[in-house]
Amino acid sequence: MRSVAIDGPSGAGKSTIARFAAKRLGFIYVDTGAIYRAVGLFAKMNNVGSKDSEAVGSLLPKIKIDIRYDESGLQHMILNGEDVSESIRTPEVSIYASDVSAIPSVRAFLLGMQRDLAERYDVIMDGRDIGTVVLPNASVKVFLTASPEARAKRRFLELQAKGTECSYEDVLKDMRYRDENDSSRQIAPLKPASDSVFVDTTDKTLGESIEEVLKIITERLGL
Ligand code: DC
Repeated sequence: MRSVAIDGPSGAGKSTIARFAAKRLGFIYVDTGAIYRAVGLFAKMNNVGSKDSEAVGSLLPKIKIDIRYDESGLQHMILNGEDVSESIRTPEVSIYASDVSAIPSVRAFLLGMQRDLAERYDVIMDGRDIGTVVLPNASVKVFLTASPEARAKRRFLELQAKGTECSYEDVLKDMRYRDENDSSRQIAPLKPASDSVFVDTTDKTLGESIEEVLKIITERLGL
């Protein structure tokens, strides 16, 4: 099977670009952040502190996560039988997801699931450690970046469009918190794989970013 790893900080455009590229290539798009978000949501629902590794670890046997795809190829996260695709997208759950993702037992719990998908399908998988840990032999690795301000602005507009109350300053603050958290953790931190191709989307439109990433993928896969 062929696999494409797209890593980078939040708001760099990973999910939009990966979803579009997957559709164009006929690959399955796997949003791994959504899986960490589902674990974060479960910890929050159970009033467990997001950094309490023992308590979060003891919740893991109670978590069953399924990934389903609808006709348009959109990924749905099913947590213990319930579709949580919407409720995992709040700013609070973003912080929870970032915190629980630093817990080694959480990462171990989710690793097999991600690798299993890549064994069964041609995938474009986005996350933080796909090229470094989950799929070190991926056929193509892209590292997407953009300035914190550009990323916060995009996320702010997205949240506003959904009617979520927030300020740009708060979104930027949360983004910096997650950048630091995700990059400095001991296990599988956010960092580019040595063989990844960098794409900086700060001054690019979405269309330009998609074209650039698609070009890298098609060239490397020989399509
Ligand atoms: O991509 P996202 O913003 O939805 O991800 C939510 C959090 O999950 C992110 O702050 C860090 C964590 N994450 C991770 O540690 N490893 C991944 N492969 C994907 C996400």
